[in-house]
Amino acid sequence: MIPGPVEFEKEVLEAVGVPSPSHVAPEFIHSFGNALDMMKKVWQSPGGQAFIVAGTGTLAMDIAGSNLIEAGDRALVISTGYFGERYADLLKRYGADVVILRAPPGQTVPLDIIEKEISTGDYKLMTFTHVDTSTAVRNNPEPIGELGKKYDVLTILDGVCSVGGEEICQEEWGIDVVLTASQKAIGVPPGLALLVVSQKAIEVWRNRKTAVTNYYADWDNWLPIMEAYSAGKPSYFGTPAVNLILGLEKSLQLILQEGLEKRIRRHQMISETFRKGIESFGLNMIPKHRELCANTLSAIFYPENVDGGDFISKVNEAGVIIAGGLLSDLKSKYFRVGHMGKVDTEDIRQTLDAIGHAIDNC
Ligand SMILES: Cc1ncc(COP(=O)(O)O)c(C=O)c1O
Repeated sequence: MIPGPVEFEKEVLEAVGVPSPSHVAPEFIHSFGNALDMMKKVWQSPGGQAFIVAGTGTLAMDIAGSNLIEAGDRALVISTGYFGERYADLLKRYGADVVILRAPPGQTVPLDIIEKEISTGDYKLMTFTHVDTSTAVRNNPEPIGELGKKYDVLTILDGVCSVGGEEICQEEWGIDVVLTASQKAIGVPPGLALLVVSQKAIEVWRNRKTAVTNYYADWDNWLPIMEAYSAGKPSYFGTPAVNLILGLEKSLQLILQEGLEKRIRRHQMISETFRKGIESFGLNMIPKHRELCANTLSAIFYPENVDGGDFISKVNEAGVIIAGGLLSDLKSKYFRVGHMGKVDTEDIRQTLDAIGHAIDNC
């Protein structure tokens, strides 16, 4: 029950576990193209360009940042925790002039503050995290996407802890890049960086004055590969993670079979059930309000006067693996429970029992 890698469907693991095909075998080319196509459905971005690259979620952040930023560009980072800070560091490496709007732990940055900052002009892009895995706080991406459109600023949504578990309508919400990694709600073992990019962002990249300074991440290398796979043609830049891509194809099929609406509702129901159980123990969540609580994970303060390490090992003793805190200032004060992907009410029941066991024995 950690927030990634999560548990994976048996069919996905079976798809991953086949002898590795050649990256130019016709069946593999078909699977790659199929996965790209299904990503656009799951992201709800029919006109976007999907990218599948071997790497982690941080690489997905790096790909978006390095292709869209040129030295001297202004970038606004809306930070709701650990991963917002990471995006700010990353963009600075590419020479961006970064301004960070920080939410206090457990809260989001109010829209009027974002608008006030962004209307000062000159921003090329803004990044924000859908669900920050350090705080379990969820931003509402729709109005932030609207601000991006209003002020003609590109928007990058870090959806590593949300895509496949939270509602995302990329195209309708006007978000230019929605990125994630395979190991969370998308339901595939770690190792794939996944992005869907708007045609507007591709155009901004095409009109760069300077070369992309990250060789591996450069869309010049990857766009022709994605286009070739979509067209059913062999191509090569770097060897794709063939087995993981077969797993991705299977997982996206399962997600679409379940249906996006039903899947999101299942995640809502699971997290609500978990929250109620936590409240019944008298424990408090990091997000300050219910509406800010993510569907994909929860961050909970330890009971008072309890040692965190001891608490986690007691939960573990009862058969459930959970994660410690991540936000540097509060790290030792809270724990995290992931509830995304293949999770069901029985997992929640067992997790609550294990937490109850820890409360009774710490
Ligand atoms: C919100 C968020 N962004 C980015 C990342 C980085 O992803 P990775 O660990 O796959 O590099 C994570 C990882 O947990 C995350 O939760």
